[in-house]
Amino acid sequence: MDFKVADMSLAEVGHKKIRWAESRMPVLMRLRELHSRTKPLAGMRISGSLHVTKETAVLVKTLVAAGAEVAWSGCNPLSTQDDVAAALAADGIPVFAWHGMSKDEFYWAIDRTLDLKPTLTLDDGCDLIFRVHSTAPELAGGILGGTEETTTGVHRLRALAKAGKLLYPVIAVNDAETKWDFDNVYGTGQSSLDGILRATSVLFAGKTIVVAGYGRCGSGCARRAQGQGANVIVTEIKPTAALKAMLDGYRVMPMDEAASLGDIFITATGMKDVIVGRHFESMKDGAIVCNTGHYDCELRIPDLEAQASSVMEIRPNCEEFVLPDGRRIYLLARGRLVNLAAAEGHPSEVMDMSFANQFMAMLYLREHGSTLSHEVYTVSEEQDQEIAGVKLETMGAHLDQLTPDQIAYRDSYEEGT
Ligand SMILES: NC(=O)c1ccc[n+]([C@@H]2O[C@H](COP(=O)([O-])OP(=O)(O)OC[C@H]3O[C@@H](n4cnc5c(N)ncnc54)[C@H](O)[C@@H]3O)[C@@H](O)[C@H]2O)c1
Repeated sequence: MDFKVADMSLAEVGHKKIRWAESRMPVLMRLRELHSRTKPLAGMRISGSLHVTKETAVLVKTLVAAGAEVAWSGCNPLSTQDDVAAALAADGIPVFAWHGMSKDEFYWAIDRTLDLKPTLTLDDGCDLIFRVHSTAPELAGGILGGTEETTTGVHRLRALAKAGKLLYPVIAVNDAETKWDFDNVYGTGQSSLDGILRATSVLFAGKTIVVAGYGRCGSGCARRAQGQGANVIVTEIKPTAALKAMLDGYRVMPMDEAASLGDIFITATGMKDVIVGRHFESMKDGAIVCNTGHYDCELRIPDLEAQASSVMEIRPNCEEFVLPDGRRIYLLARGRLVNLAAAEGHPSEVMDMSFANQFMAMLYLREHGSTLSHEVYTVSEEQDQEIAGVKLETMGAHLDQLTPDQIAYRDSYEEGT
């Protein structure tokens, strides 16, 4: 079997990590149990490009259990967990991923997954779909549909669809309520702080944390940082998002003002050039800078490199840039997603819902892909509620039910004051 990973001797550690994740992903495991009998994905070839973590391994194994043939690559050069990649390869999955890939290796790995001639694609960031569109459009005719995991990927796909250039239907898994409002908020909130702590081991209490972007990821980071005793400043471009930040108790100001006040900076916007040269120039000695958005372009790192008189890695995933006046700025994980590059990504419990959505979207596309237009679709309300319902059940929580009388009241307009 063809695969390329860093070190096969890590497979046993990877298998243990996957077992751990499986024990914390009850919704996805229930789907695995249900569909491993009927194999609804038999005959499907799935090319996937999504962070190779222990949770992704649980998804991959679930797709295979449901009958799919799968080939996998990472979706970020620094996010692959080498032990998990080795475990997947040992289990017979053609996986092409290792931590610290170059850009050329990254696209080479995606191309190897396309050798499978997929009938379905599964993306995080749209790099795989974009690869099909830019270098292998002949594959598109055989693809029933694809899914997209993250906000930035959905933005790229909507732009592609708007330009009339999308070659097959795609489901924006990111936009499911059980994904965007949980994974991005609670997952990114906790795991980004985890990444910062593993890379720096600093005390959050009393620090000023600047969070750029108060969407799902940014609001999660802000809330977790505040919970650790930090003072949070938010930068935004959207009035309603900035207003929410204000009413949640944070200060809001432009990055030009916040740059000289922050001890720790986290970008979570999906936009490029959020922190650039003039911001690095005004930062305090010891400022820590990281990004948790999908691409490293949120930070203009070449500006910092050009300003620095010396650079050295002072701790794993923490580089010290010394400026000519002696100030030191610490860049984490080279500006790559700090939660995945410096920690393990989101906790399994939250990925349980995101990947249940991915799995169910794959089933949907298998069934209905050939009848859909070349557009970006959202997951259905039924799927969202079903996943939330099962998750609640596995957490031991139960709901009230509407009585027939209440249903009639909800659906009528006669009853008033
Ligand atoms: N680290 C992870 O594991 C992880 C997980 C999920 C999503 N993401 C990525 O995080 C990024 C944000 O995702 P989200 O779901 O929070 O998106 P979102 O749309 O909910 O929020 C983004 C916010 O950033 C704001 N913004 C845009 N440009 C800005 C700028 N120049 N300055 C300040 N604010 C600006 C927007 O107004 C918006 O409120 C995306 O790139 C997404 O793909 C990362």
